[in-house]
Amino acid sequence: MSAVTDKIKEICQELILSDEKITQVRDLMNQEINKGLGRETNPQAKIKCFPTYVRQLPNGKEMGKFLALDLGGTNFRVLLIELAGGIAHSNMVSKIFAVPNDIMVGPGEELFDHIAHCLSVFMHEHGVQNEKIPLGFTFSFPCRQEGLTKGVLVTWTKGFSCSNVEGKDVVKMLNEAIRRRGDVEIDVLAVLNDTTGTLMSCAYKNPECRIGLIIGTGTNACYVEKLDKVGTWDGDFNEPQQVVINLEWGAFGDDGCLDFIFTEYDRDVDKNSINVGKQVFEKMISGMYMGELAGLALRRLCREGLIFNGKGSERFNERGSFHTKYISEIEGEKNGEVANCQAILDELDITGYTDEDCRHVRYVCELVSRRAASLVCAGLACLLNRIKEKHAVVAVDGSVYRYHPAFHNLMTAGISKLIDPGLAFDLMLSEDGSGRELP
Ligand code: GLC
Repeated sequence: MSAVTDKIKEICQELILSDEKITQVRDLMNQEINKGLGRETNPQAKIKCFPTYVRQLPNGKEMGKFLALDLGGTNFRVLLIELAGGIAHSNMVSKIFAVPNDIMVGPGEELFDHIAHCLSVFMHEHGVQNEKIPLGFTFSFPCRQEGLTKGVLVTWTKGFSCSNVEGKDVVKMLNEAIRRRGDVEIDVLAVLNDTTGTLMSCAYKNPECRIGLIIGTGTNACYVEKLDKVGTWDGDFNEPQQVVINLEWGAFGDDGCLDFIFTEYDRDVDKNSINVGKQVFEKMISGMYMGELAGLALRRLCREGLIFNGKGSERFNERGSFHTKYISEIEGEKNGEVANCQAILDELDITGYTDEDCRHVRYVCELVSRRAASLVCAGLACLLNRIKEKHAVVAVDGSVYRYHPAFHNLMTAGISKLIDPGLAFDLMLSEDGSGRELP
């Protein structure tokens, strides 16, 4: 990156994580997971390690007709799936509905009424309104489960804040909303986190899957843990003696243990979020925040007169104007090409920029996305080292992983440096995943 001036490099230095710090994050994550799994220590743990009650992964032989609901980001999806005991014979139709902003932050009942409405529309469209089809509910927020069909929302994340849902069983709320309508019937088989959904959909195709990872609007992971390691487990100890743990790793650092890598941009993003002090790890990584982190760094460079001749624009100075998808678009062009970057700067009403400015914008985007990838690598390496399988597959989904041009390669390289000798892994993109998100 010789084209970047020393002054810019100096200012951006804090966005670069040394190998030593990344290793430290990996080890802290491991301590925190041990805390979360311990019966006595769990209440103080920030990584909650919720047992999901999913004990067995699919083997590809499953059959039948199922409905799935998927809520967890800016979109809500309804799916109808027919499994015929083999990938080639399976069938799936789905529809994406938007979740309007006023519903994301309005009364909880209205959120569930909206979900029930979309489900009913979908069932009528596919002529299954008179059938009672088993349904899987992917609800991608931190839930304390008390069985496969009971999930109590602990706290909202990712910009949701509907009233009267925290502390409640979301399956019950869904059932009640459907009963209020009275035009369709459902039979909820399970409530799942999107990480678990991703792990299961990939395990259907690949029996070596052990970890589910999401890097989308939010970030989180789940993995298969042995029951004797799960101090909080209150179920039976029958075979298979394992359970999928929904880590909720987005909350890692909420006790301040990651302050040593915090930058002024992280503090700013947190201060201006609707959940201050919460989801610290998530805010350094996921799509909901990544664009803003880059935007903040760019605004600082502009204020110091180091880019755009010190002249931004009103639009550029607005919070949230630098979208996460810009990072993918800018890094997606060949080194030296600047057409995408120019289009974005035009969109931001910036005038008179130079090719050098474009190189600097790209530099900042790369630093932010590389840091995010490194943090995910620290987390995944920690899990792979815990699982200790000679070869394990990580099922991955989410808009950042899916659309960022370098994320997959950055992760493959980064994890390899952090796992114990003798271990190997693959990252597998979930095709029909949990939550298809738009870029
Ligand atoms: C947030 C949610 C978590 C979800 C993740 C990815 O971190 O709390 O449940 O898995 O986003 O969507």
